[in-house]
Amino acid sequence: MPASQSAPYDSAAPADAERLQWALRSVDALPRRRDQLLPALLVAQHALGWLPRAAIEHAAAHIRVPVSEVYATATGYSELLLERPTPGTWHVCTGVSCDLAGGRALLDAVSEALPGHALEIDCQFLCALAPVAVDDAERLHGRVTPSRILDAATERAST
Ligand code: FES
Repeated sequence: MPASQSAPYDSAAPADAERLQWALRSVDALPRRRDQLLPALLVAQHALGWLPRAAIEHAAAHIRVPVSEVYATATGYSELLLERPTPGTWHVCTGVSCDLAGGRALLDAVSEALPGHALEIDCQFLCALAPVAVDDAERLHGRVTPSRILDAATERAST
């Protein structure tokens, strides 16, 4: 487990107020049913890039489930982030197909070249394009190589 994943969750860190309001309105647009819990977390994360405590508590109130249940769900999916990711962070899939296609080596190479900017995720259901990685704008990339990620990081740093 990368060191950054073992740190305490940072869900109390403030989110940008305007984006947070947009995220909360997006959650409010969903039906108030238990089966909407995961969609609520996904729309909130899509709006914010992660799930601050305010989004978790709002989802719980809207869906009418305990906050603990929302945290239990949120911690069950590696795609759901309870810490604000460092800008430029890549999530590298280490599911079976990606692992066989070099996903673990990709994760290690990116972790070494860009310390603190590579996290492990589970299968993204794009196995035919393994190894797969997700950039900080939640865009999926297939057949990823270390140089492709490093080139993107270099390009990002120059803009
Ligand atoms: S194992 Fe990586 S996308 Fe499925």
